[in-house]
Amino acid sequence: MSREQTPTPHIAAAYDDVAKTVIMCGDPLRAQFIAGKYLENPVQYNNVRGMLGFTGTFNGRKVSVQGHGMGIPSIGIYSYELFNFYDVERIIRVGTCGSFRKDILLGDVIIAMAACTDSNFADKYNLHGTYAPVADWELIRGAVGAAEGLGYPYRVGSILSSDSFYDNNAQTDWTKVGVMGVEMELSGLYLNAAVAGRKALGILSVSDNLATGERMSVEQRQTGLDRMIQIALNLI
Ligand code: HPA
Repeated sequence: MSREQTPTPHIAAAYDDVAKTVIMCGDPLRAQFIAGKYLENPVQYNNVRGMLGFTGTFNGRKVSVQGHGMGIPSIGIYSYELFNFYDVERIIRVGTCGSFRKDILLGDVIIAMAACTDSNFADKYNLHGTYAPVADWELIRGAVGAAEGLGYPYRVGSILSSDSFYDNNAQTDWTKVGVMGVEMELSGLYLNAAVAGRKALGILSVSDNLATGERMSVEQRQTGLDRMIQIALNLI
């Protein structure tokens, strides 16, 4: 079934050209960078809307890296097509987030166990209540082990997937219930994974601290990216 639905409107790849594990990030040029730096023999499979996707191997194991754009609607489209038409089993998002707390520092890694949201993305399922989007437990456990093995400071907890980058109230509201920081995609990814019966995890690097106003430099962003990728590649 799914094979016949490929290529899709947004991914110009043949069914077999996408690996069953896909590492995703917001910026397609970052996907290109990751593929070039970490994968053996990367081959580009997508350039529709500039949303670059590559498949190669890591230690001989097939893996894809693809951009997903910004926000839940965008990651919603790409993750839906990957899970449902390419039969992708695991999506690991690596990305940046803003920290809500002074004690969660620039460069810290957040393994996002759960993703609260102010988005209505789950409404289309007509649930009589509020769905709790969560990451896959085995991926969480693997990421924790990898972060410990690599010696990188990490946290495990909940984040907010916000529909608005410029939301002045988010920090005040969500820190009341222990939310660590904010990004814009994971709750959509976790919901799509749940509906498709597949696995997902977000590994985030704190790029700015909304409590102190600190921001990462370009070099710090690179180090944060390298840490997330190394953790993600340990899960392949
Ligand atoms: N808001 C939303 N997404 C983000 C932020 C932010 O402050 N920083 C990094 N990703």
